[in-house]
Amino acid sequence: MSALWTAADAAAATGGAVVGNWQAFGLSIDSRTLRPGDLFVAVTDARDGHDFVDDAFDRGAAAAMVARVPEGVGPERLLVVDETQTGLEALGAAGRRRSGARVLGLTGSVGKTGSKAALAHGLERFGRTHSSIKSFNNHLGVPLSLAELPPDADFAVFEMGMNRAGEIARLTRQVQPEGALITAIAPVHLEFFEDESGIARAKAEVFEGVVPGGFAVIPADSAHTPLLADRARAAGLERVVTFGTAGDVTIRAVDADPAGSDVSAELVGGPLAYRVGLPGPHWVRNSLALLAVVETMGLDVERFAQTLADLQPEPGRGRAEALQLADGGAVLLDDSYNANPASMRAAFDVLALASGRRLVALGDMKELGPTSRALHAGLAGPLEAAGVALVFTAGDDMRALRDALPPVMRGAHADDAAELAAPVREVLREGDTLLVKGSLASGMGRLVRALREEEG
Ligand SMILES: Nc1ncnc2c1ncn2[C@@H]1O[C@H](COP(=O)(O)OP(=O)(O)O)[C@@H](O)[C@H]1O
Ligand SMILES: [Mg+2]
Repeated sequence: MSALWTAADAAAATGGAVVGNWQAFGLSIDSRTLRPGDLFVAVTDARDGHDFVDDAFDRGAAAAMVARVPEGVGPERLLVVDETQTGLEALGAAGRRRSGARVLGLTGSVGKTGSKAALAHGLERFGRTHSSIKSFNNHLGVPLSLAELPPDADFAVFEMGMNRAGEIARLTRQVQPEGALITAIAPVHLEFFEDESGIARAKAEVFEGVVPGGFAVIPADSAHTPLLADRARAAGLERVVTFGTAGDVTIRAVDADPAGSDVSAELVGGPLAYRVGLPGPHWVRNSLALLAVVETMGLDVERFAQTLADLQPEPGRGRAEALQLADGGAVLLDDSYNANPASMRAAFDVLALASGRRLVALGDMKELGPTSRALHAGLAGPLEAAGVALVFTAGDDMRALRDALPPVMRGAHADDAAELAAPVREVLREGDTLLVKGSLASGMGRLVRALREEEG
């Protein structure tokens, strides 16, 4: 394996100082997850990374990028820069510059991480593909992912996220994608925005970093489609492709089941039939977005589409599992990793595909700002439409949903997620499907674990 960064290359990229001669094979900003051979970058986030340089070396770091030399650390394996945030960005920029990969960028209110993973998985068919790990999509994760771009990669996919206006603009200028995808616009992270169109404008910043001659892929059937298209053209992009029920890449028919969908679609180049191994209409839409990207890149879409059948829900993101009950089995849909109004609706659409009785246990959706309670209450209609029999709720904001539900649909309410285990277990019976979902911080994962232990 050849080195990702040598001391000399990293010094040249950042303008930093080195004395030793080291080689790093990866990057890390967290000593707890550092892999031996990584360059540890001492950024200041929740804590000051300089306090963990020692620990990083104990865990096998090849070197550390620092803005000051921590006490007791020798200089041989340091890269000393003025500031580690800008040092990291400089390393990312150099990683991007030296790469010959075809680079894609994506953002959106929902579906970033899943779509990124699906796109990277499919592009593997065409060449060596790099992508940002997990949800590394902010001012740290993006430059880190760029700095980790292997010089010989053929393709790279980067996810960009934001909480405020201006953040995506900064990230996309680092990524410099050939094409930018916006997966969806929805009321997520509303704390710092007046309304949804503020979110749409902030997401549209992604076009500002697209290289000349590049392209945009945007939803066709969003209230914000005209705004997104205008912004793409204003950024100089001539190719703006839309996907959805209308637009350039559209659905002709869908045959949906709880494990996925058989889709027949109309692409720019003609009809295409494929299976997507992730359930629900939102995954049909995401798959159309990816096909639009791949077709616009000029790659063989049919070949790409074949890879969509392999996709599987990740743990905590809607994966179905069997729960053993005294009288037989029920199905648990563990979607406890995160939640917002859009992904809640998407999860209800998936639940609606279940044939037996449908139950949900929902925890608070966080970071929704002043209209949070109304957004919680707004789930009542979609729950009724999905044919849900009983709604268990946990957390303060979920009280607003509970109040909005017809009394027959109200299950137990608890302040703490884990307290729902007993009442849920009491009503759960053979053939039921139970969806558990909430923001990570709502702790619905603890309910899932409690149910597994009790039932198992
Ligand atoms: N297009 C979509 N519309 C609505 N919900 C979606 C969409 N794509 C994915 N989701 C759901 O949103 C949640 C978050 O998905 P993820 O891919 O992690 O998004 P992000 O990285 O943008 O937070 C999951 O529950 C997923 O099923
Ligand atoms: Mg993400």
